[in-house]
Amino acid sequence: MGPFRAVKGVQDVLPPDVFLWQHIESIACDVFRAYGFDEIRPPILEHTEVFTRSIGQATDIVDKEMYTFTDKGNRSLTLRPEGTASVVRAFVQNGMHTLPSPQKLYYMGPMFRYERPQKGRQRQFHQIGVEAFGISDPKLDAEVIAMLMELLRQVGLGGLSCEINSLGCSKCRPAFREVLVKFFTPKLGSLCTDCVRRHNENPLRILDCKVPGCIKERKGAPAATDHLCGECREHFETLQILLNDLRVSFTLNPEMVRGLDYYTSTAFEVTSTDLGAQNAVAAGGRYDNLVKDFGGPDTPAIGFALGMERLVALLSDKAVSAEAPVLDAYVVSIGKEPVRKGLVIAERLRMKGFRTEVSYGSSSLKNQMRRADKLGARYVIIIGEDELREGMLSYKRMSDGASGKVSASEAEGLLSTDKNN
Ligand code: HAM
Repeated sequence: MGPFRAVKGVQDVLPPDVFLWQHIESIACDVFRAYGFDEIRPPILEHTEVFTRSIGQATDIVDKEMYTFTDKGNRSLTLRPEGTASVVRAFVQNGMHTLPSPQKLYYMGPMFRYERPQKGRQRQFHQIGVEAFGISDPKLDAEVIAMLMELLRQVGLGGLSCEINSLGCSKCRPAFREVLVKFFTPKLGSLCTDCVRRHNENPLRILDCKVPGCIKERKGAPAATDHLCGECREHFETLQILLNDLRVSFTLNPEMVRGLDYYTSTAFEVTSTDLGAQNAVAAGGRYDNLVKDFGGPDTPAIGFALGMERLVALLSDKAVSAEAPVLDAYVVSIGKEPVRKGLVIAERLRMKGFRTEVSYGSSSLKNQMRRADKLGARYVIIIGEDELREGMLSYKRMSDGASGKVSASEAEGLLSTDKNN
């Protein structure tokens, strides 16, 4: 492959596919706004430590997948592999904990992970994510999960169920860790080399390993939900009651551990069997210690991120598409002076908000009309020597062939009459 090709695992999003992306993004903005979330736009580049310290050294992301490089000032920088760490960094750096609580933020944009590309897995992929800070009550968990399901419903993916789990907090996690270590110690010989290392560093990760031998060995492994402290258990039980109140369909998945270390208590994932091996369309959870780990005050938080490419793939399978923007007018002109006039008329229509194309060349009237038809223009505006002399515009309505002559301001009225029909 030559240098003038996109990098492996990185894709262009072109029209008409991009219309579906824009449609999803616009619905997401509306849904988030309705729940009181505002946008944050953190940078794509961060100091490497932002990610190593939050996502965790023993995770696949930090261990193998980060795009890390040294810049000309000898700083180690990383292209963000996810959004949460950046948002937490921004939250602390900008003193956002002094603002009224909760602070509810959303973001959209590209993330980078050096993974083996396959269906539903790219090296540059896009997330729509949210992070909410300052409330430890499970009402916030329920609201955030309900918002995710509502977003999926509005884009055309109603009927998906959310899997939930609780991973415990800094009080109950150490005891659970011990139980896991004990469970896996006699099985060390049958685990993959990564899991042998994980056994030391973070045994929870073994529960997430995709190697068939490890999957077999972890049958009957203890579940975090059986080792929760009283507070975590109550939080998890209340969350389930609230989700029922909000009519959010969910299932308990005690095996879900998530691939990032910052999670505490609530974890959730929305999966679809239609996605194949990479089956999570969205995922998230609580990370009540992260703000403090970043040097901020003790601030509970929860969020999720949704994978755009996977969402688009699911919607395309269901033949959900978004319509291309309608071309309101195509300005056809014949002759040197009319062509100049045509450009001015097109400009005027565009300023009034009509999507307008103009013919640039000197092709025949027939060819220009054919092009207007091909572009699906609602109206063709025709300017020839006669029209120029009379100060009028000829028009043709493409839906029924109706035609006539109008002044420039009448043309605007004409275009708006049936704009949204
Ligand atoms: P995550 O599970 O690593 O969580 O990613 C969230 C979603 O991003 C996945 O469910 C998937 O849809 C998509 N995704 C991840 N990697 C790829 C890839 N290589 N190619 C295509 N899509 C991908 C996080 O990133 C957390 N920051 C979520 C979160 C926010 N937790 C709390 N707040």
